[in-house]
Amino acid sequence: MAPRSKFITTFAAGYTRHKTKMKEIDWSNLSFGFMSTDYNVRCNYHNGAWGEIEVHSEDTINLSMAATCLHYGQEAFEGLKAYRCPDGKVRIFRATENAARLQATCRGLVMPEVPTDMFVEMVKKVVRLNERFIPPYESGATLYIRPLLIGTTAQVGVHPASDYLFMIFVTPVGPYFKGGFATNPYVITRDYDRSAPLGTGCYKVGGNYAASLRANTWAHEQGYSCEFYLDAREKKYIDECGAANFFGIKDNTYITPKSNSILPSVTNMSLMQLAEDLGMRVERRQIPLEELGTFEEAGACGTAAVISPIERIDDPETGKSYVFSHDGQPGPISTKLYKKLVDIQYGIEPDEHGWTTVVIE
Ligand code: PLP
Ligand code: COI
Repeated sequence: MAPRSKFITTFAAGYTRHKTKMKEIDWSNLSFGFMSTDYNVRCNYHNGAWGEIEVHSEDTINLSMAATCLHYGQEAFEGLKAYRCPDGKVRIFRATENAARLQATCRGLVMPEVPTDMFVEMVKKVVRLNERFIPPYESGATLYIRPLLIGTTAQVGVHPASDYLFMIFVTPVGPYFKGGFATNPYVITRDYDRSAPLGTGCYKVGGNYAASLRANTWAHEQGYSCEFYLDAREKKYIDECGAANFFGIKDNTYITPKSNSILPSVTNMSLMQLAEDLGMRVERRQIPLEELGTFEEAGACGTAAVISPIERIDDPETGKSYVFSHDGQPGPISTKLYKKLVDIQYGIEPDEHGWTTVVIE
């Protein structure tokens, strides 16, 4: 089937259009922020069916103030990246896994599922259309891809919308945590949960991030990189690190939490496979808090974080500090895993698992 798409230029009243000029971009010093790029792609769901893929040049959307996404949080998003590789090609990583996770989120929020082929087609299209914003390989920066699905029906009753808008924008980004692949301190939060035991923690929905803002602000105010969550029911087991999964290393074993209230991370899934490929054992299970004291290395992992090695995790309630790096350096196994993952993403190592897709030759 020929790809369906139409180009649309939207102009929003009162909106000053500022498209980023290339000379304004300092590729090597990008933060994890938003920059307006040339195009975004959109698709409307109406009368029980997805419409044509549209290409827009404006960042704004026209939305009823009664839309369900604004009142009742019917909103789902994803995050993946495009990599400009040393061989000159541009690759994306495991996009079908992001599509599958979005579909799980859609089921969780009673939203229509975005088909995988439509998701991947739109990802490729928006990357190609914004090629000039894909950072050079040497900069270490990447093009962050943000798919977003919202309920748009104007209504005040609490029930699912009938109309939806799926869109994808891109923005060049630098490291999510300070220093990129450098160790950082975390702090355990017991006063705030990001999700309930049978809630939406396993879905990528805005509400979880809204619920995390107080803990995140509190952690930053105390000089930590990020808040660290225990399970919401008992506060006995490890959940995750802000917007990233947790892993610990000991006895040649990669150990990561099994929990209903954490996001199933594509990065973590990949690291589990790579750890196995490196001859390590892999355990996905509940991790009691005290076990932190036994790990030789620990890290936060995610698309934005890649691997962010953990220097230490402080527990303000007990006064304990679980230290994983005494010299401020990432551990040898985290370093090996990081290098292997990034080298696959950049097409440097053979992609034995078929995880990457070339988007621009
Ligand atoms: N956990 C949370 C809460 C996240 O927001 C993210 C980011 O997407 C992750 C974990 C890591 O998931 P992934 O590796 O798929 O980016
Ligand atoms: C990601 O890692 O892709 C995320 O979505 C994390 C955060 C920016 C929400």
